[in-house]
Amino acid sequence: MGSFSGRRTAAAVVLFLAVISSFSLRLTAQGTDNCISKTQNGRTTGNCISIKECEYFMKILSSVNLTQNDRILLRDNQCGVRSRDVPVQVCCPSTVGLGALALPLLPKNCGSVRWQRTNDTETRIKEFPWLALIEYTKASKEKIHACGGVLISNRYVLTAAHCVANAEADNLQISAVRLGEWDTSTNPDCQFDEQTKIVNCAPVYQDIGVEQVISHPLYNKTDLSQVNDIALIRLAQPAILNEFVEPICLPNKQLRADELEGLVTEVGGWQARSSSRMKKSTVTITSIEDCQEKYARQNLHIQASQLCGAANANECHGNAGGPLMLFKNGGYLLGGLVSFGPVPCPNPDWPDVYTRVTSYVDWIEGQLKA
Ligand SMILES: *[C@@H]1O[C@H](CO)[C@@H](O)[C@H](O)[C@H]1NC(C)=O
Ligand SMILES: *[C@@H]1O[C@H](CO)[C@@H](O)[C@H](O)[C@H]1NC(C)=O
Ligand SMILES: *[C@@H]1O[C@H](CO)[C@@H](O)[C@H](O)[C@H]1NC(C)=O
Repeated sequence: MGSFSGRRTAAAVVLFLAVISSFSLRLTAQGTDNCISKTQNGRTTGNCISIKECEYFMKILSSVNLTQNDRILLRDNQCGVRSRDVPVQVCCPSTVGLGALALPLLPKNCGSVRWQRTNDTETRIKEFPWLALIEYTKASKEKIHACGGVLISNRYVLTAAHCVANAEADNLQISAVRLGEWDTSTNPDCQFDEQTKIVNCAPVYQDIGVEQVISHPLYNKTDLSQVNDIALIRLAQPAILNEFVEPICLPNKQLRADELEGLVTEVGGWQARSSSRMKKSTVTITSIEDCQEKYARQNLHIQASQLCGAANANECHGNAGGPLMLFKNGGYLLGGLVSFGPVPCPNPDWPDVYTRVTSYVDWIEGQLKA
């Protein structure tokens, strides 16, 4: 899997790559249950998960003075494993019901979790069904995949603007987007489940033509800091959505204001040399001030519309243009897009830089057409 890496050097720092990391843990298959969650603002769909994983109820639980209403709310949302004191599992209001941007042109189902989350670097089939690969066609008609992207509706994929600009500079045409990919060496992709002894197969991937590529109007390819590194691709036909092809949720206004520093997020992609399967790793969002200071020494001016993250790994997994994923209240929201980072990657001294998607939600909204 190629990527636009090692193209340019800013002293020690080489830009334009695809980033990220590694861990080790056992995978266990387990979906989450749908339930109706009672919130302070009424009922919404939810997932029965551990209260520790549910930000909404953890916030209530950690408030200094828990009111009687809070106690009732917690009690009423107990589900699955029950206990008399603090609930073990709660019907956590879903990301869709709580944090996701709701627009007529965006899907109601997004960011679904289909497996128990782990810190492993292996992914399971349909774990991140919004991951996309951008197909480029050379003048010789040869086709290559060289950047990642992320599905946000059945018609739109987000990627990095540098994935568009560098292609133009290299006489490559963005010809299609691949969705529903997991193992690039097989089609269809199948996964053997150790526990059930069942082989789980996905439909064949979808290669969908591109109707329009919209780079952010303020993106400047020659600006080393790569501010506004975001582009929207409109597909020529709607993607067929299923468990293997599903959009991620975009964050709503409230979540846009949330502090992200310190948050453990995830990236996934096909950067691992050792595997043709999608790999993943966790990325901790680091201080923007430290990051600005660090990169300023290389004459790069990191902006508030960017995010810096440290990959918790010894190998990079995310493709440039691919998503930085925030897990909140039982679902995934799009937090960032892989923009650039150090080469070789990862490098503990140089954080990876992402486009902060929350800064561009209004721009995205303004571009969407039916
Ligand atoms: C919480 O407790 C503090 C001090 O005990 C009090 O001043 C405050 O009004 C309380 N807040 C609520 C929402 O009850
Ligand atoms: C994964 O790692 C993060 C950060 O180290 C930790 O907070 C989290 O609890 C771990 N999750 C699991 C399922 O072990
Ligand atoms: C793009 O960035 C370069 C380098 O910072 C600068 O010289 C140039 O004026 C910028 N172009 C535009 C259109 O802003």
